[in-house]
Amino acid sequence: MSKVTVVGAGNVGATVANVLAHKDLVKEIVLLDIRGNFAKGKALDSWQQAPIDYYSTSLTGTDDYKDTANSDIVVITAGIPRKPGMSRDDLISTNAGIVQSVTKSILKYSKNPIIIIVSNPLDVMTYAAHTASKLPKNRVFGMAGILDTARYRAFLATELKVSPKDISAVLMGGHGDTMVPLPRYTTVAGIPVTEMITAKKLNAIVERTKKGGGELVKLMGTSAWYAPGAAAAQMVASIVRDENRIFPCCTLLSGQYGLRSVYLGVPVKLGKNGIEEMIKLKLNKSEMALLKKSATAVKSVMKTYDKMSKKKK
Ligand code: NAI
Ligand code: 2OP
Repeated sequence: MSKVTVVGAGNVGATVANVLAHKDLVKEIVLLDIRGNFAKGKALDSWQQAPIDYYSTSLTGTDDYKDTANSDIVVITAGIPRKPGMSRDDLISTNAGIVQSVTKSILKYSKNPIIIIVSNPLDVMTYAAHTASKLPKNRVFGMAGILDTARYRAFLATELKVSPKDISAVLMGGHGDTMVPLPRYTTVAGIPVTEMITAKKLNAIVERTKKGGGELVKLMGTSAWYAPGAAAAQMVASIVRDENRIFPCCTLLSGQYGLRSVYLGVPVKLGKNGIEEMIKLKLNKSEMALLKKSATAVKSVMKTYDKMSKKKK
């Protein structure tokens, strides 16, 4: 695999391209944005970093979909981000139209790409892109779980005064306040996290993780980009290297965990075909209840999207 397109050259998109270029894994990255020459500028800046940081991946910017032709992987970050006081769901009316039209434009020039959605509200934008693309579900999925899990791992590393490298964790559900961090599946260098932290402190970290995106919006006046960009680049790397790494990704559930017709974050293997396999965890009753609650929350935003789409027709 050699060509990756990133749509949206803003904070997250430019970071995806830059982090991916640093991995020196793919031949070519195309950055596309509707803002005139903006993507060209971002790509040129990243390319001028190559002699300093030693990578050969070429970076070009464009506002013309022709330049995205024959992309193997496309990362969609186009759309507006949250401002303080907004929820991710408040973005739906603007971003749904953008994600649908970007998906259709991409498919004019790339027949069978793998598409990774980043735009918010993530789970419903994955639904929008998947239905607009008509591609199989293993080829269209969303990035959120790696980011949310990374926030959880980072908070734990700070609290326990250990390296974040040693924290391994799984988190499921929608990309919103109902996400489900899973302490029972969290370890510190193989040691169950519950042996290293009090239940009260762990619970506080779980709650902080659920609102992790909002915490950054309050601090910066817009949403995060370094960790989100790195998370999407990590997904691309697992696909390009055909690594089968296990990450929580947003995908269409069709009966797994007793849930169907809902786009939700679950652990999957990512390889050359995109989602190679969904991993089925043996959740206990309370974990299952939280996952169902999260699915219900996502389904209600999916309904809003369905109503909006019907009105447009
Ligand atoms: P940004 O405003 O910095 O960049 C968005 C870019 O999209 C802009 O450059 C804009 O010109 C471009 N754009 C808008 N409409 C377009 C179109 N039709 N075609 C091509 N480009 C278009 O925003 P940022 O911070 O990069 O966030 C992008 C999206 O990612 C937001 O919806 C944000 O909520 C979401 N996000 C999702 C995360 C996740 O975990 N899934 C994490 C962080 C952000
Ligand atoms: C985040 O969690 C806004 O979804 C974005 O940072």
